[in-house]
Amino acid sequence: MSNPSLLILPGDGIGAEVMAEVRKVIAWFGENQGLNFDIDEDLVGGASYDAHGTPLTDAAMEKAQGVDAVLLGAVGGPKYDDLDFSLKPERGLLRLRKEMDLFANLRPAQCFDALADFSSLKKDVVAGLDIMIVRELTSGVYFGEPRGIHKEGNERVGVNTQRYTESEIARVARSAFELARRRNNKVCSMEKANVMESGILWRDVVTEVHAAEYSDVELSHMYADNGAMQLVRAPKQFDVIVTDNLFGDILSDAAAMLTGSLGMLPSASLGSQMANGRPKALYEPVHGSAPDIAGQGKANPIACVLSFAMALRYSFDKGDEATRLEQAVEKVLADGVKTGDLMQDDDAQPVSTSQMGDAIVEALTASL
Ligand code: IPM
Ligand code: MG
Repeated sequence: MSNPSLLILPGDGIGAEVMAEVRKVIAWFGENQGLNFDIDEDLVGGASYDAHGTPLTDAAMEKAQGVDAVLLGAVGGPKYDDLDFSLKPERGLLRLRKEMDLFANLRPAQCFDALADFSSLKKDVVAGLDIMIVRELTSGVYFGEPRGIHKEGNERVGVNTQRYTESEIARVARSAFELARRRNNKVCSMEKANVMESGILWRDVVTEVHAAEYSDVELSHMYADNGAMQLVRAPKQFDVIVTDNLFGDILSDAAAMLTGSLGMLPSASLGSQMANGRPKALYEPVHGSAPDIAGQGKANPIACVLSFAMALRYSFDKGDEATRLEQAVEKVLADGVKTGDLMQDDDAQPVSTSQMGDAIVEALTASL
């Protein structure tokens, strides 16, 4: 049997640095667990624009469609601010999500014990936190038509459209219910049914799918603004949150800070099953390209490493190996090994990106 295939797209900013650490982890699994991957690498975002004049080439898109899973670092940077909208680094990422039809974006927010003190919220509010945001990723206002900026009389008007079909809502709801069954069996659906028709439909369809197929799961509904407030007031009331593309973007950044640092959060973007039974999949950290610290060896590679753990679990059915990697990260943090983003005033010296990667690999070896 041939090895499973991976396409690595480091992208921009800290993307390349954090991905180098993931490569160490992948190599460790090959050397120590006989888990080998066929790895290809390509450009995305500003890096692709610099080389090819486009944020994603057709050739790279084709590779992404052909592999078992894509690992992406980050896209974007101030250098590209003045580019035409269609050439911006973010368009490369959005094209991957759309053309691979990665409709379910899983964003776990887990608070590691060693970091509970570090959240901007009180320790007892976040200690032990383990929630999962399921964000719809291929529709809504990110892609709805009409869109654009046009002239009306003497002034310009900017238009975007929030649009959801029943089937788009139903399929992401199913992903959320399925996940809940493997966790604490609770789903909270968030929209703005009080002001948006698309929100009314969202609530109706989630309710229908629940009644027809998942009545064993506990379902609640919340307006997304209240959801934002509840996330910082009492986040442990949630298990799985399911929400649309834009609310999910915003709520997941808020959830990220509950855990202490944006540098800790992985994500999986999953689509329909391919012929080999694996879902179409792209794994990426929730953090961005952090141009302010890029190239300085300061970035925290944990979110990207944990994204690979999600790949092991969701694409390759290697749940035990994923857990081994997550526990190695937990051990490293418990030992006080921290990058700059995880430091408190009285802490010792931060480690570099590559020292963090080495520490994770050492912890993996110690786990054997
Ligand atoms: C995210 C990011 C992206 C988004 C950007 C980079 C296009 O913020 O993945 O959360 O808005 O979806
Ligand atoms: Mg975002």
